[in-house]
Amino acid sequence: MNSDIETSASFPNMSSMKVLIIGSGGREHALAWKAAQSSLVDDVLVAPGNAGTALEPGVRNVAIAVEDIDGLLQLAIDENIQLTIVGPEVPLAAGVVDRFNERDLRCFGPNAGAAQLESSKAFAKAFMARHAIPTAAYAVVDTVADGMDKAKAIGFPLVLKADGLAAGKGVVIVEDEQQAETTLQDMLSGNAFGAAGHRVVVEEFLVGEEASFIVIAEGERAVPLASSQDHKRRDDGDLGPNTGGMGAYSPAPAVDQAMHERIMAEVIQPTLQGMAADGHRFTGFLYAGVMLTDAGPKVLEFNVRFGDPETQPILMRLQSDLVQTLLTVLDGRIDEVELEWDPRTALGIVVAAGGYPDAYAKGKVISGLDAVPTAEIKVFHAGTRMDGDQVVTSGGRVLCVTALGDSVAEAQARALDWAGRIGFDGAFYRRDIGHRAIARASND
Ligand code: AMP
Ligand code: GLY
Repeated sequence: MNSDIETSASFPNMSSMKVLIIGSGGREHALAWKAAQSSLVDDVLVAPGNAGTALEPGVRNVAIAVEDIDGLLQLAIDENIQLTIVGPEVPLAAGVVDRFNERDLRCFGPNAGAAQLESSKAFAKAFMARHAIPTAAYAVVDTVADGMDKAKAIGFPLVLKADGLAAGKGVVIVEDEQQAETTLQDMLSGNAFGAAGHRVVVEEFLVGEEASFIVIAEGERAVPLASSQDHKRRDDGDLGPNTGGMGAYSPAPAVDQAMHERIMAEVIQPTLQGMAADGHRFTGFLYAGVMLTDAGPKVLEFNVRFGDPETQPILMRLQSDLVQTLLTVLDGRIDEVELEWDPRTALGIVVAAGGYPDAYAKGKVISGLDAVPTAEIKVFHAGTRMDGDQVVTSGGRVLCVTALGDSVAEAQARALDWAGRIGFDGAFYRRDIGHRAIARASND
């Protein structure tokens, strides 16, 4: 990456830029926190944000929902926003980037065509089959009878996935025919996941360790971010139901140099080339959730955005200027980007509301947020909001307590210690985030 001086020279009149972050979760708090550190930026707006972004120095919230594309566009025009970074998938699938680009506004993320890689699992599976990108064997069904035929052919355990966006929760691992039938009925009748479930992907169950591989992409070129690993299950030992993610850490030792090169060559490059060839040039964060199987990396899912909670530990480690990086990419100069990383491990523990991922209470007062942690620790907010002077819960994943350490164990101990100082009625969190890397280190 160029020095600040050279890059500022190529973005004249931008030493006091305004940046807009779209979203309200832990990912967006981390993006806003990082953007506010940029030498190019003096004002970061978050729409709609949370209590963490409201309290973050140099950052302010604007009460516009992520689905309100007209409102977001008007905000960007009125405030003279010079870079917008889109956090969640919903506005991307709704075409926020297309709309901003029509008005010559810089907006980092894929257009609606390219966002289908996440917004339709059936699209993603057909795309991977067409471009020989390794993934689990599958079939797409829209009736229970057809689903049962395909399930029996694939064998158990297998995985059933609602076709559309279901906030990371539309995936069920089924053990036998009876569970398959009940789950198919629930999904196809629209009970469990609404309109997202009217088509179901029936998929082979893959065995291995999972990793999140996220790149900054521009057309057919990509700069990889540091590797990371999420923990999708609710409970310690990777038990309990799937969630949006209960904690993550970076780097993930499971992705060694050889695996990194395989994922770039076998997954990322063919995906970007395939998308371009299909008329959906991809610009934005491309996230491949991969299973590291004995037969090599296989794609579990694509996301067309940064991961949550992966963003929190990844950005804790990123030493380069994020805003400068994304402007350079949007300027067509991704080849000039070289990212610098803190060599330490960052590990984030999600503090969730009792009941999550099912129904949970909101409006609980959060205590322990006033204490100022050391520079190795950052409390990113997710489902929080201000209620007068108090911070209260407003979502299932409430906070992500993130810490740096010289080892995974040290980062985990620091994050656990700090998470223990914060509380609200019904709060719970996993105590074993990073367990695979810790076990690996103790086996070395
Ligand atoms: P997805 O939203 O497709 O990533 O699925 C959510 C989680 O379900 C993944 O992170 C995996 O832990 C699990 N999963 C999804 N697909 C498979 C599969 N084919 N084999 C094994 N586990 C899977
Ligand atoms: N952490 C998984 C996701 O962002 O979808």
